[in-house]
Amino acid sequence: MYFTLAISLLLQFCLPTATAYRYFPPNGNCVDYDILVSISTEVATWNATKWNDDFGVVDFVSFAATRTSAGLPPPITGPSLFEGQFTIAATFCSPNVKASPHHKTVLLATHGLGFDRGYWNSQYQPEDYNFAQYILNKGYSIFFYDRLGVGASSSLSGFVNQASIQVEILRQLADFIRHGKYTDHLGVPDHVVLLGHSFGSFISTALLAGAPTSADAAILTGLGFSLDSAVQIESLNLRMASAQDQKWAHLDAGYLTWNDIFGNINNFLKAPTYTFGAAVYSEASKAPIGVLEVLSIQSLNFNATRFRGPTLVMNGEFDFLVCGGFCPGVMEEPATTFFSGSKGFRTYIQPQAGHALNFHQNATAGYEVIANYLHEHGL
Ligand SMILES: *[C@@H]1O[C@H](CO)[C@@H](O)[C@H](O)[C@H]1NC(C)=O
Ligand SMILES: *[C@@H]1O[C@H](CO)[C@@H](O)[C@H](O)[C@H]1NC(C)=O
Ligand SMILES: *[C@@H]1O[C@H](CO)[C@@H](O)[C@H](O)[C@H]1NC(C)=O
Repeated sequence: MYFTLAISLLLQFCLPTATAYRYFPPNGNCVDYDILVSISTEVATWNATKWNDDFGVVDFVSFAATRTSAGLPPPITGPSLFEGQFTIAATFCSPNVKASPHHKTVLLATHGLGFDRGYWNSQYQPEDYNFAQYILNKGYSIFFYDRLGVGASSSLSGFVNQASIQVEILRQLADFIRHGKYTDHLGVPDHVVLLGHSFGSFISTALLAGAPTSADAAILTGLGFSLDSAVQIESLNLRMASAQDQKWAHLDAGYLTWNDIFGNINNFLKAPTYTFGAAVYSEASKAPIGVLEVLSIQSLNFNATRFRGPTLVMNGEFDFLVCGGFCPGVMEEPATTFFSGSKGFRTYIQPQAGHALNFHQNATAGYEVIANYLHEHGL
């Protein structure tokens, strides 16, 4: 019965392309941009057998998840220099409410693995799940983009795309925005706030570690350092994206996705605080993951002590992926040390939520915590 319902809902939501999900919050003046970035940065290089089917994927997963004491050769080597030019697809919205004192604060939002920019801009019950719409109502402006490799941004091999490339992309986007580029009629903002979820929070932290004046404040959700990559790479139930759905036929074998809605729920949501409809929507709008994106998280520098701005780290209480299923007790450290220079640093636990904070029933109350934090810090 649940299954029949699931299938009919999936059909209803399974629109042919990612662009079918595009939605502009009615309370914003929104504009789309295709932004050219030129990247030159050090990367790790793939140095293991590449697979071409799901047997190869699970074989690699068991290899990658094996305890290091087995002495297996690392799948990557390097660093080497990487250069490339890419197009990043982004949306900028400013509030269309009159006379907001905050509209010159721009939130620069970076989504996590398994999503695209739609994570911030749910078309499904936007009044309950749409962060962009919520924050526009509070009078803030928001810039959100598809990270390299997903949505309408350029694609790249999943054996190449990785965190250091995306930190450099974020650095350039922050710089553009700070100078009033890609901010429509807003011009030069008063404040730029990095907003992240999960992988997006990791690369935002790494940017602040390397370039502490890139932003004035940071809101980092789904950020925890109790990472056991062996456990996570197993729990994600990864399969080749191109074999799962025609819409990913252009991606190489290095692009993966979890196998079904239960893989999604197991890693991103937590009963009983999600609805079936939100889970179905989240699954239908998921985005593939580059294998090297996952493997490269641990090579990032998270020592953001030189960053002075206010920082809020917010996680769902029962986040499996970054807290091992229970955030209380593991959120303060090492985050407090990494952000020891931050004025007004704070951690916050969103009760009963899992990793995908935006798809939980109480999501908007979490948005309110974020809006209050910004307000309290004069942003
Ligand atoms: C690549 O992997 C092979 C097989 O494990 C290893 O012999 C070789 O040294 C590695 N190359 C580099 C540059 O690390
Ligand atoms: C973090 O960065 C600060 C400032 O650059 C430095 O003093 C400190 O030693 C670094 N901590 C670690 C653990 O690398
Ligand atoms: C909803 O979230 C708010 C903000 O974190 C929290 O105060 C409240 O207790 C939550 N409600 C439930 C039912 O968990």
